[in-house]
Amino acid sequence: MNPESSPSVAIVGPGAIGTTIAAALHELGRTPLLCGRTYRERLELHDGDRAIEVAGPVRTDPAQLDHPVDIVFLAVKATQTEAAAAWLAALSTPETVVCVLQNGVEQLESVAAHCPHGRIVPAVVWFPAQAQPDGSVRLRGDPRLSLPDTAASVMIADALQGSRCAVELAADFESLAWRKLLQNAVAGLMALTHRRSGMFGRCDIARLTLDYLRECLAVARAEGADLEDDVPQAILDKFQASPADMGTSILTDREAGRPLEWDIRNGVVSRRGRAHGIPTPISDVLVPLLAAASDGPG
Ligand SMILES: NC(=O)c1ccc[n+]([C@@H]2O[C@H](COP(=O)([O-])OP(=O)(O)OC[C@H]3O[C@@H](n4cnc5c(N)ncnc54)[C@H](OP(=O)(O)O)[C@@H]3O)[C@@H](O)[C@H]2O)c1
Repeated sequence: MNPESSPSVAIVGPGAIGTTIAAALHELGRTPLLCGRTYRERLELHDGDRAIEVAGPVRTDPAQLDHPVDIVFLAVKATQTEAAAAWLAALSTPETVVCVLQNGVEQLESVAAHCPHGRIVPAVVWFPAQAQPDGSVRLRGDPRLSLPDTAASVMIADALQGSRCAVELAADFESLAWRKLLQNAVAGLMALTHRRSGMFGRCDIARLTLDYLRECLAVARAEGADLEDDVPQAILDKFQASPADMGTSILTDREAGRPLEWDIRNGVVSRRGRAHGIPTPISDVLVPLLAAASDGPG
């Protein structure tokens, strides 16, 4: 696809993930419209020693937009989707594809509630990136997305074709999304302890992690995810093999006193478990603690 025939694209939420996708498009001459909360002249992505600047500015008022776009990448935190609804309304027509770059397994329902038009495509985001205090973003892996194998997803794959961000159309997207959710759910333990990956080297935490993951796995399977028995051990192994000082975005948010995505990452397991009549005793302790850590009061 050459730039002349490219679809028009907007990024709503030009933070860690949004900046990475914006840079991937900008490098191909497909610079997207940037829609955010904080005004910036431009975005900046750092990948090792390389810096990529994405021409801005970041627009901050949806009322000033005068035309919709073909594709929206929604990359606000799940806790910020409602506040970003005015962007979705201004940018979408019924033909617009809205690709949701958020963790969780409920992107369709949660974004549909705030997006009157648009064909919503959930995504699994596989790469880590971190916003820096000056607003620039440090990329910490090879950008990669998984999308369900649908016609709307093909538009996203085409838009990112040839970019630094790989896109996989997955036949069994639900299972991939649940696999990622299990990993995210465990990271919630780090937000509660204020500790990094090294904590998974403790025998008691390793035991708790496996028990929690088995609880999550039972719910995931009841939801239709096709996941093997060895998934909990594989996830624990990965945390244990990580550098002891490796953090996670929910821990970063906790340390900064920001709201946590506890409901889409942990609450969902107890909610869906309840619907299937599956006991979730570990979630029943963790979820209220995460909710209170996020939202108070106190
Ligand atoms: N970061 C990762 O490594 C990673 C990996 C996998 C999945 N994810 C998931 O990806 C999603 C995005 O995470 P992130 O780390 O990119 O978050 P982030 O860095 O906090 O970025 C969110 C962006 O949205 C902007 N924003 C907030 N409210 C807005 C509004 N009402 N309208 C427009 N923009 C608004 C924020 O602006 P301000 O600058 O004003 O805050 C910020 O630029 C989350 O669901 C996360 O769990 C993240």
